[in-house]
Amino acid sequence: MPAMTKARLHLRPTDAALGADIEGVDLAQLDETSFGEIERAWAAYLVLRFRDQSLTDVDLMRFGRHLGELDRVPIKAANVAMTDDPRLSIAPEAREYVTVISNVKIDGKAIGGLGNYESRWHTDMSYNPQPPAASALYGIEVPPSGGDTSFCNMYLAYETLDAEVKQRIAGLSCIHDASRNSVGELRRGFAESTDPTQTVGAKHPIVRTHPVTGRQCLFLGRRRNAYIPGLALEDSEALLDRLWEHASEPRFSWTQVWRKGDLVVWDNRCVMHRRDAFDDSLQRVMHRIQICGDTPF
Ligand code: SIN
Repeated sequence: MPAMTKARLHLRPTDAALGADIEGVDLAQLDETSFGEIERAWAAYLVLRFRDQSLTDVDLMRFGRHLGELDRVPIKAANVAMTDDPRLSIAPEAREYVTVISNVKIDGKAIGGLGNYESRWHTDMSYNPQPPAASALYGIEVPPSGGDTSFCNMYLAYETLDAEVKQRIAGLSCIHDASRNSVGELRRGFAESTDPTQTVGAKHPIVRTHPVTGRQCLFLGRRRNAYIPGLALEDSEALLDRLWEHASEPRFSWTQVWRKGDLVVWDNRCVMHRRDAFDDSLQRVMHRIQICGDTPF
């Protein structure tokens, strides 16, 4: 556990398998000393929450750049406005990097992705050859209830597997489906696919080694259309079902109940997340940035 004694920062871990609040910091004014402390806490708790922030997109991007190079926004579903759509008023310098997640519609067009639906457990953009190392999600408008986001510790999920399963998955890889987002919507430019052996998306090791901590974790990405090359489809399905059932046990997770002004940053290499559905008559507007990662090994 990192000592966070100096300065004004206060670390308050959750009592769950991951997650901590960092108090006493205005992320719009972050300096390198404070960032060093935050980075150590992030490595230990995997998900950090900063409450009561007031951030522009430019502040959000500046915070992200402390963690690394900003990654570009994912490919959107066809029903979602592009970030250069004037209805969104996203600053030009933010359009390539800020992902809008929202159920709000303007003139009938969704201003962001994922609507009000449940978003299933996933790793952001895991279908890319180099998925983001981190994502940070900022709550601009949040409903009074619903839309909670849960995070799951994939180090623990790996470490608690039976020895026999660990042996079985050593050296195996999985294809991560690029065609649909985490609420099941088809992305622009992708065709419908229901045969997992034909899935389009990156192939990654099922057990990856975190490039900074050197620890091993499960790297499952997304369940829909996942496929383990080299296995018969039914064997791939059975093994993936077993791994997903284990990884989604509640003992590995912590749930964020959003307040306006919360910024939550997670390590996308060793954490999965999901979101509850919420009442579509309520408005939820979140802005997300993602930080470039490397090729999983
Ligand atoms: C997601 O599942 O990526 C979105 C998280 C959220 O809207 O809270």
